[in-house]
Amino acid sequence: MAANMKKNAKEIRDLFLLDDKISFLNFGSFGACPSVIFEDLIKWQRLLEKEPVRFIVEYGPKFLEESKQALGTYIGANVSDLIFVPNPTFAINILAKNILNPGDEVLTTNLEYGAMDYTWEYFCTKTGASYKRQPITLPLVSKEKFIEEFWKGVSDKTKIIFISHITSSTGLIFPVEEICAEAKRRGLITVVDGAHVPGHIPLNISTLQADFYTGACHKWMMTPKGNSFLYVAKSFQPLLEPLVISWGFKSTNTQASQFQEYHQYNGTRDFSAYLTIPAALDFRTEHHWDELIKSCRGSVIKKGAELSHFLGTKPLAPLTSDFYGQLYSAKIHTENPEELQRILFTNYSIEIPVMRHGDDCYIRFSFQPFSQEKEIDALIVALEEIRQTTDLWFRPTL
Ligand SMILES: Cc1ncc(COP(=O)(O)O)c(C=O)c1O
Repeated sequence: MAANMKKNAKEIRDLFLLDDKISFLNFGSFGACPSVIFEDLIKWQRLLEKEPVRFIVEYGPKFLEESKQALGTYIGANVSDLIFVPNPTFAINILAKNILNPGDEVLTTNLEYGAMDYTWEYFCTKTGASYKRQPITLPLVSKEKFIEEFWKGVSDKTKIIFISHITSSTGLIFPVEEICAEAKRRGLITVVDGAHVPGHIPLNISTLQADFYTGACHKWMMTPKGNSFLYVAKSFQPLLEPLVISWGFKSTNTQASQFQEYHQYNGTRDFSAYLTIPAALDFRTEHHWDELIKSCRGSVIKKGAELSHFLGTKPLAPLTSDFYGQLYSAKIHTENPEELQRILFTNYSIEIPVMRHGDDCYIRFSFQPFSQEKEIDALIVALEEIRQTTDLWFRPTL
């Protein structure tokens, strides 16, 4: 353990394929895969191409089950309640297409990921349901206030609660445990968007007791892209028709459940990315990743506070681990976040998202064990130079 614990940020960074000329502060969007996990993907693909028929029909599915078992243990879910999906968008499409009825209301927040909003809005319009984005006041004051504000949106038409566990544009952890418990008490269905959660903060789906939970493995679990899951509580599984009709729709496999067959066997594809979960978990163990990310959380709060102060805006929530993991998003006053992001990358080699959400803009950094606090200092220097030489953003007078 000691040898690994002593690895410095540069040595940890060398475990990844990342371009070392870039200050990579955007792990949140698409993750990044360490070379050893990437090589595991190639290993599976080579095995597939060596004997495509045997692999796809015979031993591939066995490896798939093993990989799912490892995932289930890691996230506290029964393997029979899990399906692999390419991404959380796909997962939300499966359920939004199937669980809505005319007149239903889906209660959510105004801080959800845009593609999820589009999905719900599309299927709500199709079925005659409605999608209610309850406004949440930022900065958050406390968990209790958040919960109180959220439930002000509930009505007698509310049937489904949809909420991010960690949000995209604000990077905040939401109190989903409390929301799911209250929803259960009220007899409402819960759908949790945990895209950013696996490998980032601890997750135990069985204690959370959400009815649906989706998470990406290709972000903070660091597998190759196209690797995510959907958990569905047993009672809801029969409701879900597959998005793609294929052999799985009339499967003769008596070993697997209809839920598994419907959603996982829908045409020929390369499922190697799903098989890399054991390698991704081994990587964490070998490098004591969970220990390393604990110290990242301290840096997020320290450097995040500095960034917000520099930008002349308030932190979006109290600076505690209740709200912050390895993402920090700060409000920034800009009319052109796209150009600001482009200049940071092109002129300063800093990869960081600057994004719009509603009427506001946010700049969000991710902090991994290969990140260094001096990268946030360099970001601040770059932003100051941009402020002095352009009118791309301004600091409000406090
Ligand atoms: C909160 C949240 N939900 C869902 C997604 C959807 O991810 P994907 O495009 O991989 O489906 C993202 C992507 O970053 C996200 O941040």
